Amino acid sequence: MGWNNWNSFGCDVSEGLLLSTSERLVSLGLRDLGYQYVVLDDCWQQESGRDQHGKLQPDPSKFPNGLKSISDGLHDQGFKFGMYSSAGEMTCARYAGSLDHETDDAESFASWGVDMLKYDSCYHMGRIGTPLISFNRFKTMSDALKATGRNILLNLCNWGEDFVHTWGMSISNSWRISGDIYDSFTRPDDLCGCDPNVLSDPYCIAPGTHCSVLFIINRIAAIADRSIPGGWNDMDMLEVGQGGMTDEEYKAHFSLWAALKSPLFLGNDIRSMPAAALTIINNPAILALSQDPHGRSVTRVRRDVGKDLPLDEWGVGEMHVWSGYLQNGDEAVIFLNAAGADLEMSCSLAEIFTAFGPGGSAPHVQFDWAVHDLWAHRMDDATAEAILAAGTAEERSALLKKANWYNATETPYADGLRNEDPRLFGEKIGVVEAGGVLRATVKSHAAKVFRLRRIAKEGAKFKGKSIDRVAKDEL
Ligand code: GLA
Repeated sequence: MGWNNWNSFGCDVSEGLLLSTSERLVSLGLRDLGYQYVVLDDCWQQESGRDQHGKLQPDPSKFPNGLKSISDGLHDQGFKFGMYSSAGEMTCARYAGSLDHETDDAESFASWGVDMLKYDSCYHMGRIGTPLISFNRFKTMSDALKATGRNILLNLCNWGEDFVHTWGMSISNSWRISGDIYDSFTRPDDLCGCDPNVLSDPYCIAPGTHCSVLFIINRIAAIADRSIPGGWNDMDMLEVGQGGMTDEEYKAHFSLWAALKSPLFLGNDIRSMPAAALTIINNPAILALSQDPHGRSVTRVRRDVGKDLPLDEWGVGEMHVWSGYLQNGDEAVIFLNAAGADLEMSCSLAEIFTAFGPGGSAPHVQFDWAVHDLWAHRMDDATAEAILAAGTAEERSALLKKANWYNATETPYADGLRNEDPRLFGEKIGVVEAGGVLRATVKSHAAKVFRLRRIAKEGAKFKGKSIDRVAKDEL
């Protein structure tokens, strides 16, 4: 979790931007919710390229004190520092790239105190086309980073090309699975030119730069289970707060990124943010899905397309149900409505628990489940307005305290979940009885996000044992 400048600032980067953003991340309580990485994307270099020793150099007008001073500043504030390069002769914005300079550049990153490298794939000199060619190109940097002795997270950014989901895990910590996100929920665009449903789409000549939230969700569906701790599918940075989507669309976008275990990099300007954006990105009950210690993504158990679903303004009409197991035995369930009208959605326990056995054979179907709505305790606008408007950091921290704000630096999500901290569990809104069906009305272009919690019934048995003696993960 962290922040990256690209979505809102593009090439307009500077020391001032990074340090004023990091201060604000602290005072708004976001660092302590887990947004720990501050990532400097493309365009940080001087335009003249490498120096006479072959080393990359920061642009002195953007970074007058160099990069080590930024990384020291961020570390002092409790952040980790991320930077950017490309496995090509140039970066995507045409600054010097790291291809064939991996050792030099890895040493520079280590000497600047970098904790994470986002590693792009522009201008790759044709070294692409089979998984092995791409694997080798990226592995050179992975090895060079390792050789520095500094622990540097590696985030591959080759937009899903050459089946990165099949080899990214071996050399990196995350890999982008699609072209760049843009600030739209469903709008198709020629600049996102792949078929989201076909991972090996031979006509995908352009993963692109205008991929909608729905496109990315459909792209990841077949490989959602590839994310495990230490190696994650990356759905790209967040657009929450940028202005192109509605509040419900942003909530849905954020919820799916969290439950699908994508890295969560905020992409908006933290220093001038609408209250509604703050109350989305600071919902601890949703963040607890992202940070669940089990570390497995929800997967899609149902997708309805067509079937008389009302179409939206882009001709899109579909709805999904996603579900997944959480460490404490709870089940995350998301109803996504990407159609043109509000829908009554429903899903049986048999379908929700398909991963444990299809056709209703999962033992989970035999239990009653309490249904918790994870958006029920969203921070109210007045509190968020007051936090954003507070004159000093002290005032702000008093307001956060008054709002009983969650602090993951003090209490990691794993502990909060184990101790049943109510801030991580939303609100109980009902029960689905054994063999029953979960139902909800879901607005157009919105998601409902639930945590199902098993209700232990007195005297109930499972495989001959009293239910209270069955560990939740035996189920
Ligand atoms: C590519 C990446 C983006 C961003 C830009 C920078 O498009 O996918 O996330 O890093 O390059 O130029």
